[in-house]
Parts: sequence; structure tokens; C-alpha cells
Amino acid sequence: MESSIWVEKYRPHRLDGIVSQKPIIERLKYLLEKNSLPHCLFAGPAGCGKTTAALAIANELYGEQWHGNFLELNASNERGIDTVRVKVKDFARTMPLQGYKIIYLDEADSLTKDAQHALRRTMENYAATCRFILACNYSGKIIPPIQSRCAVFRFSSLRPDEMKSYLQDIALKEGMKVDDDSMDAVIKISEGDMRRAVNTLQLLSSAKKVSPETVYSVVNRADPADVRKMLELALAAKFSDAREILITLLHGRGLSGDDVVREIHSQILSLGVDDRKKLLLIERLGEYEFRLTEGSNPRIQLEAFLAQLGIL
Ligand SMILES: Nc1ncnc2c1ncn2[C@@H]1O[C@H](COP(=O)(O)OP(=O)(O)OP(=O)(O)O)[C@@H](O)[C@H]1O
Ligand SMILES: [Mg+2]
Repeated sequence: MESSIWVEKYRPHRLDGIVSQKPIIERLKYLLEKNSLPHCLFAGPAGCGKTTAALAIANELYGEQWHGNFLELNASNERGIDTVRVKVKDFARTMPLQGYKIIYLDEADSLTKDAQHALRRTMENYAATCRFILACNYSGKIIPPIQSRCAVFRFSSLRPDEMKSYLQDIALKEGMKVDDDSMDAVIKISEGDMRRAVNTLQLLSSAKKVSPETVYSVVNRADPADVRKMLELALAAKFSDAREILITLLHGRGLSGDDVVREIHSQILSLGVDDRKKLLLIERLGEYEFRLTEGSNPRIQLEAFLAQLGIL
């Protein structure tokens, strides 16, 4: 049955379908060819293809029968290493199809050091029939004895151009019209996370017409064009016009103070003012960001920030 969730529907089934990560894919293909897959550690940011690569390996190895030979566990859900151990034991009891079965342990970096030591012993006990693929965001949180038992693969977040053709392909298959500016907006807000990009595209599929504005509104992010205008007005000492935009962002669009601060931050460096002013802006923004994290009223704080720009 075809999934109606696009991140599942368009998840590549084979290693060759994975975008970017070329050195990793080549190495994995080589290991599979030689039938010598070791335990693996996949490290990297969210939505860059770690789970996809593990599923593709299972698919390459077992084809249709991958379900019975692939166990996915989430270290942060499976309350403690004991549940992991029981599940692994159950799973490893039946004979593997290809010499070994695969256990994919997501968020391995959320395990405590003690749990990781226990995991290490489990990995050793079942080494004859199971290969572990551990996934984490930060390999530095994985204890050295586990790292040394694994081949470490470092996934990187995806580049805009790499994301673009993959997303355009999905849009085409779904019969969506997405112009270049809107696609760039989708990619910008996704920050190298393909899951977020594909999910945003799916959200947009219900819009009558896609534009950069609709992109920012479906994901509830500040439109960079609005924020830029607000900053330029404030810098030109047109405080009430700048304030009007701020109020629309906060109350009209329902954005949080944090959302607005984040977009201001990404706009500062490209503003048409001299470097000294940019530094001052960043320094001030840091102060206001801190006040917001302390629970201050976003509207008052951001208005105070804008008021300062006219007299910098
Ligand atoms: N390199 C990639 N090539 C093609 N599609 C990708 C790639 N990375 C991610 N995707 C898409 O994004 C979705 C999420 O990817 P995946 O589950 O592999 O992320 P992950 O790296 O495991 O992230 P997390 O750390 O959040 O678990 C997939 O369903 C797939 O559609
Ligand atoms: Mg994953």
C-alpha cells in the first residue's frame, strides 16, 4: 500500500536512490558486495538519510523479506537498556536469512554511559547473528569502546542544490506547480533537513497557489521580506511603520518572539549598513534574545529593540 505521508512515500528504497552522502554510499555498497558489513555507527544531523540508508541496506540484503530481518528500536523510547536487551534477544532467536540480521538503534546517543556499556556487551553476545547499526546526532556522546567496534559513517546535512532536484521531482510527480522562489524558500527554512523540506512541500500541496509567502505561513515562520522591511524602517528611524510590521508578525501571523528574533538574526549580515552597525545590531539582538528566554513580554522587548535601531 502506498503511504500518504510523503516522507515515507518518497523515501528511497535503494542505496543508489539516496541523495548526496556519496562516499558513505560507496563504502556501504562495497561492504555489502564483499558480504562483510561490520557494526555501524551513523552520525549526523536530522533528516539527512541515516534511517533511510539503514532501511536501504535491509532492502538490498533481504528484498521482500526485510521485515523479518530488520529490527528498529529507539533508544530514547525503549526505557533503558533492559528493554533493548529483551527485544534483541527475542529478535535474534530465529535464524537469520543472510548470515545475520540487522538491528537499527536510533538515538543511541540518548543512552547513559552505563546503558552503553550494557549495549556493548549485547553487541558482543549477538555478534554471530546480528549486525548493529547505531544512529546518533553526535558521535562524541558514544563511548569509545562502542565506537571502536563500529565503522563510523558521518552523514552531512544536505546542500540546497542537492535538495532542489529531489524536491522538484516530488513536486512533478504530485502535479504541483512550485516556482523557483518558493522552492528556494522551502529549502531555506529546511536548513539541510530533507524530512522537513518534504513535509513542508506536502503541507503546501493543499494551497491553491504556492508562493514564498504561503511557504512561510504554512510553516509558521517569519517571512524574511517582512522582517527585512521592518529592520530597514527601524534603521531609518521610521519607528511607527516598523512597529506596525512587528505587530502584524506577532499578532496577525501569530509568530512567537523567538521566531522573529531568529529571522532578524539571519537578516542582519545582509543589511545595507556598515559593519560597525551590524556588530552593534548583533550585540543588541543577543541581549533581547536573552531577555525573551527569561520570559519577558516579546512585544515590549522587540519594540524596544526596534526603537534602538533609529539612534545607532
Ligand atoms: N539523503 C537523502 N536522500 C533522499 N531522501 C532523503 C535523504 N535524507 C533524508 N531524506 C528524506 O527525508 C526523510 C527522513 O530521512 P531519514 O529518516 O533518513 O532521516 P534521519 O537521518 O534518520 O534523521 P533523524 O536523525 O531525524 O532520524 C526520508 O523519508 C526521506 O524521504
Ligand atoms: Mg532516523
